[in-house]
Amino acid sequence: MPLVKMSDLLEDARQEKYAVGAFSVANMEMVMGTIRAAEELKSPIIIQVAQVRLPYSPIEIFGPLMVAAAREAKVPVAVHFDHGLDLEYIKKALDIGFTSVMIDASLMPIEENISLVKEVRDLADKYGADVEAEVGQLAGSEDGSESNERIYSNPLDVKLLYDKTKIDCIALSIGNAHGLYKKEPKLRFDILEEASKLVPIPLVLHGGSGISDDDFRKCIRGGIQKINVATASFNMVYDYVSKYCNTGKRDYFTMSSAIVNGTYESVSKHIKVFGSNNRA
Ligand code: 13P
Repeated sequence: MPLVKMSDLLEDARQEKYAVGAFSVANMEMVMGTIRAAEELKSPIIIQVAQVRLPYSPIEIFGPLMVAAAREAKVPVAVHFDHGLDLEYIKKALDIGFTSVMIDASLMPIEENISLVKEVRDLADKYGADVEAEVGQLAGSEDGSESNERIYSNPLDVKLLYDKTKIDCIALSIGNAHGLYKKEPKLRFDILEEASKLVPIPLVLHGGSGISDDDFRKCIRGGIQKINVATASFNMVYDYVSKYCNTGKRDYFTMSSAIVNGTYESVSKHIKVFGSNNRA
């Protein structure tokens, strides 16, 4: 099965009302666990790495591994650069063969956000790649640093961004947050409903770790077709590795399998809730 474009996966999801999981990965074992879950459940999937994670997983080494794994997979896999912060790294990802990139200019005023997104759109077009951007600001942070600042997406800004850039999907801030939620999130489905009426493209939910199954399903019915999950997988991997280490045994390769298995468990669980199983 070839490496595919994210927009093709999301278009099918939009027609059939399910979501495709965009699962963050940090090493070969996590890539293997994620793709194994997708293959066993016959699910299309997106694997992604965020720019802030590159000190741990350098894109020059890890990016080609992600692309190679996608090419070898038995299900369609899109390879996505998550939360790109500058053109230099976005270009590196595109050169390596990532099929989509996100430019996160959500901290900027909407006009500046739009103008940076336009630049990325022009660049990505040269590679035939897709572009995601974000409107509004999520609490928490992709790299685990704390920020309680949240700015909900303004649906009119979502429309403006789409009209001016014609990008492929837009991430919203509707009460979702990166990292684990301190209390149950209260999602603003009214914002989602309004935004999805104004733009003809799939919408994206970041901060998937800790959202309830019911809220996931409600989001999907409301126009969310891509859901990002990172912390849930990283924590599950940590738990699996800790459990192995606590046995007192000392075999590197069993520990390596624990990373694959922990990722597999987290990803399988999310694929089933998102309804993308048996869609590949
Ligand atoms: P979580 O770590 O909360 O799952 O968020 C992941 C994410 O949105 C990556 O972009």
